[in-house]
Amino acid sequence: MVVVAILAAGRGTRMKSGLPKVLHSLGGRSLLERVIESVEPLSPSRQIAIVGYQSEQVKTAMHSISNLEFVEQTVQLGTGHAIQQLLPYLQDYTGDLLVLNGDLPLIRSETLQQMLQTHAQNQNAATILTSHLPDPTGYGRVFCNDRNIVQQMVEHKDCSAAQRQNHRINAGVYCFRWQNLAQVLPYLQANNVQKEYYLTDAVTQVGQVMAVDVEDYQEILGINDRLQLAIAYEILQRRVKEKWMLAGVTLIDPTSITIDETVELQSDVIIEPQTHLRGNTVIKTGSHIGPGSLIENSQLAENVTVQYSVVTDSTVKAGSRIGPYAHLRGQVQVGAGCRVGNFVELKNTQLGDRTNAAHLSYLGDSVVGNQVNIGAGTITANYDGVKKHPTKIGDRTKTGANSVLVAPVILGNDVYVAAGSTISQNVPDDALAIARSRQVVKLGWRRKTNANETIDRHK
Ligand code: UD1
Ligand code: MG
Repeated sequence: MVVVAILAAGRGTRMKSGLPKVLHSLGGRSLLERVIESVEPLSPSRQIAIVGYQSEQVKTAMHSISNLEFVEQTVQLGTGHAIQQLLPYLQDYTGDLLVLNGDLPLIRSETLQQMLQTHAQNQNAATILTSHLPDPTGYGRVFCNDRNIVQQMVEHKDCSAAQRQNHRINAGVYCFRWQNLAQVLPYLQANNVQKEYYLTDAVTQVGQVMAVDVEDYQEILGINDRLQLAIAYEILQRRVKEKWMLAGVTLIDPTSITIDETVELQSDVIIEPQTHLRGNTVIKTGSHIGPGSLIENSQLAENVTVQYSVVTDSTVKAGSRIGPYAHLRGQVQVGAGCRVGNFVELKNTQLGDRTNAAHLSYLGDSVVGNQVNIGAGTITANYDGVKKHPTKIGDRTKTGANSVLVAPVILGNDVYVAAGSTISQNVPDDALAIARSRQVVKLGWRRKTNANETIDRHK
């Protein structure tokens, strides 16, 4: 049985931000959410976040995590002081306490599981995660004997020049036998450069403490400033892209592409440079996305192509071609074999199969049938200044160039709309609608001139 405590009360001064550090976003999720996700597979009996700096904001941001408890650390006097706040809440608890820093977003559940195993097998009073960093600057150093039993922990700022040569660092993940820790917590001192109560000072006083090395030090990167946040994002992206490339996805110029972990891709998808895939996006086999596209919370079926376009909250069926320069948003559904082309915006609109809107159009709140041709420059005037209204267009209907469809309006099946028409009334099946003034041609017309006036036609 394990209780988890996550340290999330600090301001994160080095972020130089109004936002509490643990709420900074890394690839769409906050640092704190990521830490909480990493402990979920351990099925902890309780999960407690210790909050302080802008605690209301932190609580609100975490409201969807139902089993998360909050303990307040009203003044932030250090990580040891933060854990002291748990004493009244865990008085009769006799199990283990897993403590994680809230700024540790890349830690893997498997690593935590292994650490808990080592802790139990060796009957340690505490077990901590350590790693050997090429550049350990800023981290606390851990000194062990040859059996990995921790002898001493010293914060970077408190280290002598010789101690700084030790590259074995404290990751900020600890498993304590709670009763042992509870006994030493009240006696912590703040005799250090930062005048803080360090949790690391408690560690060496609880009994046998073992250090477990994390092989991949990238996992235990602590986020203290925006540079480390960017490095973490790079690491995360590398993990995601490697996974998809090995699963049969071609990424052309991977460094210019970003892919959220929540995205799902099938084999033989090709992603071109400067393309960004976000949220709950699914892209099926044979699709070719990019260059220069943003796909967010959208489902693209097989063999879809998207070029230089933005697709959000939408679905596109097999074989459709989107772009260049199209914008789909607000629950668009594009059928199979459609073409949505240059400078076309679709909002909350449904296209049937083999329907084309190839140039310069806006279709909003519309339901469009199969094999429809939306002529260049066709616009649905869906907004009367107060309300949005729907447009319905039947199968095989063709709108001429520069038609305006004033909603609410229904065009039947096999309708033709003459170019330049403003359609404000319904049109039945098989009809031709012309709604424009007739062209007047005045033969032989020329501006009257008096004898002395010459017209410079090049002016
Ligand atoms: C800490 C460790 C250091 C370790 C490093 C790993 C201590 C004293 N040092 O240093 O050994 O190498 O993490 O990344 O623990 N927090 C509170 N209340 C406070 C102070 C901090 O809740 O009063 C929280 C912060 O919000 C943060 C976490 O504790 O999530 C760690 O604090 P931080 O200031 O980042 O510690 P480091 O200097 O990184
Ligand atoms: Mg830190």
